[in-house]
Amino acid sequence: MNAPSPRPYASAKPARPLTGTISVPGDKSISHRALMFGALAVGQTRITGLLTGEDVLRTAAAMAALGAEISRDGDDWLVSGRGIGALTEPADVLDMGNSGTAARLLAGILASHDIYAVMTGDASLRKRPMARVIEPLKQTGAQFLARSGNRLPLTIRGARESMPLSYRLPVASAQVKSAVLLAGLNARGVTEVEEPEPTRDHSENMLRHFGARVDVERVGRGRGIKLWGQPELVAADVVVPGDPSSAAFPVSAALLVPDSHVTLQGVGLNPLRAGLFETLREMGASLAVHNARTQGGEPVGDLIAIHTTLKAVDVPPERAPSMIDEYPILAVLCAFAQGTSRLRGLAELRVKESDRLSATAALLSVNGARVEIEGDDLIIHGTGGLPGGGLVETHMDHRLAMSALVLGQASAQPVRIDDASFIDTSFPGFVPLMQGLGAGLSTP
Ligand code: S3P
Repeated sequence: MNAPSPRPYASAKPARPLTGTISVPGDKSISHRALMFGALAVGQTRITGLLTGEDVLRTAAAMAALGAEISRDGDDWLVSGRGIGALTEPADVLDMGNSGTAARLLAGILASHDIYAVMTGDASLRKRPMARVIEPLKQTGAQFLARSGNRLPLTIRGARESMPLSYRLPVASAQVKSAVLLAGLNARGVTEVEEPEPTRDHSENMLRHFGARVDVERVGRGRGIKLWGQPELVAADVVVPGDPSSAAFPVSAALLVPDSHVTLQGVGLNPLRAGLFETLREMGASLAVHNARTQGGEPVGDLIAIHTTLKAVDVPPERAPSMIDEYPILAVLCAFAQGTSRLRGLAELRVKESDRLSATAALLSVNGARVEIEGDDLIIHGTGGLPGGGLVETHMDHRLAMSALVLGQASAQPVRIDDASFIDTSFPGFVPLMQGLGAGLSTP
């Protein structure tokens, strides 16, 4: 598929405070997993609240190309699975678009299927490192051939009889952990993964929900996870909560625009995803959770964000896995806070949809903020306001695009971005939803 043509956008201070009650789209991580586990289970899985962003649609198309039956029933999605080990060879290259999660998790599934498959992606995904999954997955007996630097396109010849893995993650990555667990589903014996810091546990939760045996124990600061291979995965309905990583943008806009008061219903509040909300409270933000409940095995609640003058913050490196996608928008908030903030241990940001560490620093400095990168730390000297007026390069990165559009809601001068089209990968409808709250977003 050709890349969409760039869609420049502009963001300016709104005429009124941001107000209203909204729901954000479904959680991206849980949506990918619901489609994948549904395709590996026997029977029909009904998914309610699936994110219909580009990234997840790529996963749906890939699972269909591997033999699962996927259809829509009103707003719900239905997946008729093939059972573990029973996916079939795709007739064409699998195009994972912009999505690292789709590509890496699928690599785990393909490694333990006796089939041949080729995966590619867009220009951003084709730059991203795949060695982190190829290295452990090779030990199943699968073979991988990748472009130089272990980049996509990637050819996978899955193992005839997959070996169970025992792997200690060298980086805190839920994608790598999930790829190993997915490969372990079709291996005889117990697959073991140890993570140095706890990362999002949606795979573990959903594996149990579909009937697999998964044991988790604390190991130092991290966790040891054991999965018993070749379980009978049985179709199970999934209700997808609102994505906390998407909620971060309207929440931040409400905190920045004077007199704003915004309610977000049904946001996922898994503690391994909620690092931003903890950090915002340390910054003095008025952010409350109402109606806390459990939905489909995941904690959810309604968030109420009210404009607040924020204080600077020092975020420890061990919090990074629980808010890894939220640093660009947190950096924007720090630029409007009073004082110097330090966001520590951000090496992983360099290998996201873009090099988010330098791109976030550039996003801020082009709008007049004083920012430094020191090793893997981002330092932001907040002065309570920002001049704005910058043209932000978004590098095919949805979260940079949304962060810049939020920044423009509070800076003295409007902000422009080169391309809003990638927002659809995770947050379709972002612009009209924000406009509905009163945000000043328009085509330039
Ligand atoms: C994800 C894990 C994180 C995150 C990504 C989604 C997942 O990536 O950045 O958006 O669904 O497992 P890493 O595993 O590379 O940290």
